[in-house]
Amino acid sequence: MAAADLKVATFCVVTGASKGLGQALAINLAETVGDGSLIVVTARGEGGLNDTKKKIEATAPHVEVKIVAGDIAGPYSDELHKRICAVPSPQSFKHAIIVHNAASLGDVSKLTSELSDPKVITDYYQMNVSSVLCLNSQFFSATGSIVRRTVVNITSLCALQPFKSWALYCGGKAARDMIFKVLAQEQPDVRVLSYAPGPLQTEMVEYAAQNTADPDIRAFFVGLSKNRTALDPDESAKKMVKLLLDNKFENGAHVDFYD
Ligand SMILES: NC(=O)c1ccc[n+]([C@@H]2O[C@H](COP(=O)([O-])OP(=O)(O)OC[C@H]3O[C@@H](n4cnc5c(N)ncnc54)[C@H](OP(=O)(O)O)[C@@H]3O)[C@@H](O)[C@H]2O)c1
Repeated sequence: MAAADLKVATFCVVTGASKGLGQALAINLAETVGDGSLIVVTARGEGGLNDTKKKIEATAPHVEVKIVAGDIAGPYSDELHKRICAVPSPQSFKHAIIVHNAASLGDVSKLTSELSDPKVITDYYQMNVSSVLCLNSQFFSATGSIVRRTVVNITSLCALQPFKSWALYCGGKAARDMIFKVLAQEQPDVRVLSYAPGPLQTEMVEYAAQNTADPDIRAFFVGLSKNRTALDPDESAKKMVKLLLDNKFENGAHVDFYD
């Protein structure tokens, strides 16, 4: 497999880049890509996005940062997806990368047999599956003339393994893994990776520790949170960038931090 050529002028989109893993991924990618690169950071929280931008400007001043704030699954998401993927001058980029990182845990306070509200279920999959497909499609339309393209789906062990009371999250991550495996089959020239970052010290783990219905799963996350044994997002982000640089993963594969 040819080198991924991250160290060239790259157009890069990172969703969920206002905090947590997304912020660490945006910073680490910015530090790796070449002169003339543009990184688009998107999420709802403008304060967090400004913080990400400042951190990138401090360590990767050769990269331009563009903030696009909004709800990727909101009522005007089509227009937002277009703004996120707008490439100012496609001929100036040698590589285009999108990292589908934004996600939510959903309602983990119920067992699967208690999930009865169709709006809660539909909204969850709108945010975590449908919006990813729509944004991805917009990325393909906008970057068609850029020779190298890479799509990263941030996944989880939960795509492969059931976690009691996490049916929405496990179902969404499993669906995304398969969607990106299909994409990899359809577009062998595009590099496609599903990266599972391992348990991270982020707000998602705190939310899991406080809200999970199943006592065993909740105890696991309480332990991670209390003992601070979850990974630093920066460490996991570095591993993902290394996977892209090494460029040896099977197209469409699910690769875990611990692999
Ligand atoms: N934390 C873990 O232990 C863990 C383990 C395995 C996999 N993962 C995966 O890693 C990724 C990042 O997780 P994390 O722990 O960093 O999560 P996090 O701290 O909760 O951050 C989630 C990010 O997604 C954004 N976001 C959420 N809903 C959004 C919406 N409707 N529109 C736009 N942006 C939205 C949030 O920003 P705003 O709130 O500002 O919009 C935030 O930037 C996720 O895909 C997660 O499933 C996490």
